[in-house]
Amino acid sequence: MTSGPLELDRMNAVIVGDGAIGTALLDALLQHPGLAGVALLRRGTMPLPDDQRVIPLPFDAEDPASVAAAAEEATSSLGRVHLLINTVGMLHGPRQQPEKRVRDVRPEALLHSFAINAVLLPLLAQSFGSLLRHDEPAVLASLSARVGSIEDNGLGGWYSYRASKAAHNMLLRTLAREWRVSHRNVSVVALHPGTVDSRLSRPFVSSSYRNKVLTPGESAEALLKVIDSLCPDRSGSFYDWQGKPVPW
Ligand SMILES: NC(=O)c1ccc[n+]([C@@H]2O[C@H](COP(=O)([O-])OP(=O)(O)OC[C@H]3O[C@@H](n4cnc5c(N)ncnc54)[C@H](OP(=O)(O)O)[C@@H]3O)[C@@H](O)[C@H]2O)c1
Repeated sequence: MTSGPLELDRMNAVIVGDGAIGTALLDALLQHPGLAGVALLRRGTMPLPDDQRVIPLPFDAEDPASVAAAAEEATSSLGRVHLLINTVGMLHGPRQQPEKRVRDVRPEALLHSFAINAVLLPLLAQSFGSLLRHDEPAVLASLSARVGSIEDNGLGGWYSYRASKAAHNMLLRTLAREWRVSHRNVSVVALHPGTVDSRLSRPFVSSSYRNKVLTPGESAEALLKVIDSLCPDRSGSFYDWQGKPVPW
């Protein structure tokens, strides 16, 4: 078996989400000589790179039927998949902001964060699992966040985001354990992309920290290097963009 999906001569990929990091990963993969096709699951309609390998598939993370329909489309257009990267995430939106104190926690905001940051992962595994299971190497990587680490939580705050990313991590670890038997070719990993300039992070990056923030392109390049170094023995792990383990 070749060591990883990025070493294959013909690799099919799925990118879920077309935000800052999702788009940068798409751009980086399109430069990869082995890329045969890439499905981009997104809810927006931003113009796409003019490249026939890109297959846009509409979906909404909060609509399980749309995830299943996207997987059906991907089955007919791609067949087997070697790399699936989930980049969907939400920290703030029109209806919610990260909570500073427990009195700011609202059940509907907490549940909304869980739907997007945690529940999507098992839906993707259910719908794309059969496309990832084959006799070639494959990776399912899902973007988490260091602030979702229970051990690393020294500051507090951001209840909904932290809790939903911690739930994401438990779902991912549990999936990795199950797939160790049923999907032996697939490495399942949670990845922290670094602090990256994006719509998600921008309101919360202080001016003194700005020089430490990665561009989406820098993060994407680093994440693909981490993905390239994986093997099924390391399935069920949580790494940062530099390939260093993050405590759960
Ligand atoms: N940026 C950072 O510093 C940082 C740090 C740690 C972890 N992360 C994680 O990295 C991932 C990517 O973040 P980013 O920085 O690239 O943020 P971003 O630019 O805001 O991208 C987030 C993506 O999630 C999508 N999304 C949100 N709700 C959705 C829904 N209901 N259905 C479909 N798509 C939905 C957004 O789609 P729309 O554009 O349609 O809203 C967008 O494509 C997230 O999981 C985030 O938690 C980021």
